[in-house]
Amino acid sequence: MHVPIMVSEILEVLAPKPGEIAIDCTLGYGGHTQQILPRLLPGGRLIGLDVDPLEQPRTEERLRSLGFGPEAFQIHRANFAGLPRVLAAEGLTGADCILADLGVSSMQIDTPSRGFSVKTPGPLDMRMNPNKGQPASALLGKIPTEVLETLLRENADEPRAAVLAARLAGRKFFLTTELAEAVRNALPKIPEDDRDKSVRRVFQALRIAVNDEFSALDTLLRHLPECLSPGGRVAILTFHSGEDRRVKKAFEAARHEGRYAAISAEVTRPTPGECHANPRATSAKLRWAKRSA
Ligand SMILES: C[S@@+](CC[C@H](N)C(=O)[O-])C[C@H]1O[C@@H](n2cnc3c(N)ncnc32)[C@H](O)[C@@H]1O
Repeated sequence: MHVPIMVSEILEVLAPKPGEIAIDCTLGYGGHTQQILPRLLPGGRLIGLDVDPLEQPRTEERLRSLGFGPEAFQIHRANFAGLPRVLAAEGLTGADCILADLGVSSMQIDTPSRGFSVKTPGPLDMRMNPNKGQPASALLGKIPTEVLETLLRENADEPRAAVLAARLAGRKFFLTTELAEAVRNALPKIPEDDRDKSVRRVFQALRIAVNDEFSALDTLLRHLPECLSPGGRVAILTFHSGEDRRVKKAFEAARHEGRYAAISAEVTRPTPGECHANPRATSAKLRWAKRSA
């Protein structure tokens, strides 16, 4: 089941109003879009982006069935790194509200054939767009040990990167569960809970590499100030330190250069109640920035 994260906090930051233009950079199931879009009406519209060719048609059908017609809601199968091109294609010079809810969706994780699940066997793929790039199995099969070690450190802060890289690099794994088992076997003296954390970090590091996630995020962050209309607001939800560090640094640098009028001083975290009801929210951090009016 998909539950959008920190909805009320995001609505407070973005403050969407009738007649405004919003961009959802990570449409997913459309959970956030479904909350933002009615607040733009009448007169406004929302443009949703996603790279996933499998989920996007389902999301479009669902949102259309809720009554959001093509005049209010447009969809682009596009990487958010190309946001300026999407705006130009829509005849826009900027948006009033921009949201990015980073990472993978629950539908992607919960579909074993997509290869994101550490628990249910599926092909070790992890591509958000299965028509582009190489699956995680191919990456792992030919990666040099030192490169994998760096990737585990930089993409997931894995404390046992050296041991794991030495055991995993260059090996052929066909199933997600084979890789998870190999990670556990590589750490025999470590408590069960810590081994499970390493499994999740190895998956995260590979997913980020396979989908070139940091490079897409860095490009989005560079373009964001010029993609906002005067007075425009952006909110970004991150789920691990590698993402949050990038957002924090980019917001601070753009604020310093006067490209943003204000940025969040601290991250906002989900309430304990939300984390209890939706454990996937637990690691979420929200940051925002505003352009001067
Ligand atoms: C956490 S989910 C978003 C969930 C959405 N906010 C909702 O409420 O349903 C992230 C989505 O962003 C997409 N995505 C990840 N990186 C992307 C990128 N660089 N460009 C466009 N879409 C991306 C994924 O395919 C996934 O569907």
